[in-house]
Amino acid sequence: MKIGILTSGGDCPGLNAVIRGAVLKGIKVHEQEFVGFRDGWRGVVEGDVIDLPRHAVRGISKQGGTILGTSRTNPFEGKGGAEAIKENLDRLGIDAVIAIGGEGTLAAAKRLTDLGLKIVGVPKTVDNDLDATDYTFGFDTAVQIATEAIDRLRTTGESHSRCMIAEVMGRHVGWIALHAGMASGAHAILIPEQQTSIEQIAEWVSDANARGRAPLVVVAEGFVPSHMEQAHSERGLDTFGRPRLGGIADQLAPELESRTGIETRATILGHIQRGGVPTSFDRVLATRLGMAAVDSVKDELWGTMVSLNGTEIAHVGFEAALGNLKRVPQHRYEEAAILFG
Ligand code: F6P
Repeated sequence: MKIGILTSGGDCPGLNAVIRGAVLKGIKVHEQEFVGFRDGWRGVVEGDVIDLPRHAVRGISKQGGTILGTSRTNPFEGKGGAEAIKENLDRLGIDAVIAIGGEGTLAAAKRLTDLGLKIVGVPKTVDNDLDATDYTFGFDTAVQIATEAIDRLRTTGESHSRCMIAEVMGRHVGWIALHAGMASGAHAILIPEQQTSIEQIAEWVSDANARGRAPLVVVAEGFVPSHMEQAHSERGLDTFGRPRLGGIADQLAPELESRTGIETRATILGHIQRGGVPTSFDRVLATRLGMAAVDSVKDELWGTMVSLNGTEIAHVGFEAALGNLKRVPQHRYEEAAILFG
């Protein structure tokens, strides 16, 4: 059986480990053959593939990014659509597809599976916001990178008696902010799931300062303080139809400075959180998911994705991952908030 693998959507540390796990187990155990689609669904729509023999995946699990390239191409747009994709797969002799991606990728994969294509999924996002899997690979690496950066902000903040604000990724959810903030001992963590007023944030900052600490605030990019909600909803959507984000730390800094009288600096960590070497946790999780995905193909579990359930790998329907964002639960935020201020 010949399998085509694609990586789609934003890149994420661990993608190469999935590819390696799938190719090595597939060749060794199931006698499968592999090709990779270049740049996500674009490669599927245009029939742009590269061979993935065993030596092509040698040593790649520690490499960041994806050796296949990625894009945000929608497989139903342009020359795409189920019929065109079917023709391409037949022409290339590809029997099944492993789609590695986030919600958008899995939604497209579900639609194509409903139209008769043979696809299994591997969930991916640094944001950790996909339902039906306990953790996504890439998240641990992003938290590790953010924690290291925030530890560095702390020492410069302490030297100057400044308040430091670190903005981390998290468009819809605050998992990275919660974990990196707890790990680095932040005095306030601000996440999209939790409405927080500027007065409350200023109080946490002032309390930390009063105890002689350099206040440290960790904010997820999707957080909007109550008094800025109107202004943010008027910023509209970006060219990809997503809410215009970025820069909440830059907006908070002058406001907190004028309310508290404490000199304040903002740092936006941005795509640094998605780059470079994956942690060993992410490499192991990604490798196991890749290996389980070739079992799904062997067992013809079309329309399912592999997921982490506790410490075990499970197979769940695409629909389980779609529609429901995995948000930070209230009790997890309250637990962290005990230590704020
Ligand atoms: O979904 C992962 C993520 O890294 C978000 O945290 C972030 O908002 C977004 O992708 C950034 O997307 P892009 O790389 O397209 O700018």
